[in-house]
Order: sequence, then structure tokens, then C-alpha cells
Amino acid sequence: MSNQDRRTAFLHEMGLGPVWSQRAAVLQTLEHEPVLLMASAETVEISVPVAAPVPQQRAAEPTLSAWGDETPAAPATVPMTAAVSAVVKPASDVANMGWEQLKEVVSNCTECGLCKGRTQTVFGIGDQKAKWLFVGEGPGRNEDFQGEPFVGPAGKLLDNMFISMGLKRGENAYIANIVKCRPTDANKRDRPPTAEEVDACMPYLQRQIALINPTVIVALGKTAALSLLKLDPATPVSKLRGTVHRYDEIPVVVTYHPAYLLRSLKDKSKAWADLCLAMQTYTARENG
Ligand code: URA
Ligand code: SF4
Repeated sequence: MSNQDRRTAFLHEMGLGPVWSQRAAVLQTLEHEPVLLMASAETVEISVPVAAPVPQQRAAEPTLSAWGDETPAAPATVPMTAAVSAVVKPASDVANMGWEQLKEVVSNCTECGLCKGRTQTVFGIGDQKAKWLFVGEGPGRNEDFQGEPFVGPAGKLLDNMFISMGLKRGENAYIANIVKCRPTDANKRDRPPTAEEVDACMPYLQRQIALINPTVIVALGKTAALSLLKLDPATPVSKLRGTVHRYDEIPVVVTYHPAYLLRSLKDKSKAWADLCLAMQTYTARENG
């Protein structure tokens, strides 16, 4: 797929197309039905040089959780993970673990208070040798139930971002989160993890990154970006975009969280610009 086709496909997938080519042609290229037209809007500011978007009927606004996910009501009883008397592993041990041991330790982890509310840990998914690593914030309600990152509406958008980049969930990309257990507030709604929770969980992601050794990391949203880059929590995502940062030697490109993009249409074309930067960075590193 050429860059132009990808951009067309991406904007289309996000409900902003058609751009230059006809919708039918885009669909043919993608060979699948668009799933994200719920994000269609009346007015869209596009900062990339594309034709004006076709106004579309706005779908009914879904009920949004803290992250914008439209999530089903929680069942009355949430199964709790049984307390496990696994030996606590210090960070130095984690840094030497292989995949199997790491998964096992994470699934039994009680290093922070999030262990108490989880249905299960959400370790991450994808090709263990993936060249692309996408890092989100932490599991939401859907992810906590299913044990897989980004399976709610934000995940559908992420899947569409993958398609537009020529990637596919589970194949050449790995998806992980900063924290592996779902953070909730007093009303059982999703919330961002605290600094302590991030610190407690970080050795696991650090080990995942070391094992994968990706060519490029894409940080999805503020929590992922600031935690990976160890920056001041007051830094807005908008300040981090457009620059290639580093985690050790690995380039990190920062973009908006997909759940935020579901609510903020005007930033979707900026997200495409971020993904273009990530793709350029990838090509340069793979060839250089
Ligand atoms: N949001 C995230 O940051 N991660 C998920 O896995 C799901 C929603
Ligand atoms: Fe352990 Fe991370 Fe879950 Fe906290 S969030 S209990 S550190 S796996």
C-alpha cells in the first residue's frame, strides 16, 4: 500500500474519508467493512492537505467511560483473582526473565493495590519478535474481562490504525500497557493509574520491551508517553508529538490515545501525521 493509499484508508476508517480516491476503491484495498463510522462528525479540522471531508450523519453519542469506551454494564459479581502466595520477584529478577516466567509472575502479581480489583491481568498480545510495539495505559473494563489489551471501541480504532499502516493485531505488532491490571475509581469506573502503580508495574513492561526489542515504539496517550519517557506529569501530549523520543536506543513516537480520538475528531488527522512519522522512523531505522 502506498503512503497515499494508507492515509486515504486511515481517514476513511476514522470516518473522515473519502479523501482522493473513491470509497469503493478504498474498501476494495482493505477488503473489509469499516467498523468505526460512529465517530463521524459534522465539522472536522484537517491539518493535512486533503480534500474537505464529506459531512456524515452523526451517530448517537455512546455512553463514555473515563476513557471513552462504550462498555457493557458490569456483572453483579466480578470474579476476583485468588490470592496467590507466589514469591515476590524483585525488579532485578524480572529483568532476567524469559517470556513464560514473566507471564506467570505477572499473572500472580500483587505488587500494587490494583491486584485487588482485577478479574485477571492483561499481559499484552502479539508477535514476541514484533518490530512495532504499541503501548497503552492500562486495561479497561472490556480488557479486564477478556484478558487482552484494546478490545473495546478504542481497540477497534487501534485495529483500524494498524490496517492503515499495513499492520495487523497479533502479527507484526505487539500491544502492551503500562499497567497490567485495571485501575478503577470508587464508582468502579476506569481511571488512569497512579504514579505508584506505574512504578510498581514498569519492570514488566521494561522486560517486555527488552525481549521484543522493537524497531519503533508508539506511545498511545499521555500516561504511556510520560511513563516511558519519564517526563513531568504536567507535560501535554501535544508537546510530545512530532518529535522522535528515545527509550534506551529505541525511537518512541507519541500520539493521542485512541479513546481520546473517539471523542476528539479534530485530532484524528494529527494522529495520522504521528503514524506517518512513526512509519518514516521505522523505515529509516530498518534501512539504516
Ligand atoms: N486503553 C488502554 O490504554 N489500554 C487498553 O488495553 C484498553 C484501553
Ligand atoms: Fe502487579 Fe502491575 Fe497488576 Fe500492580 S498493576 S498488581 S504491579 S501486575
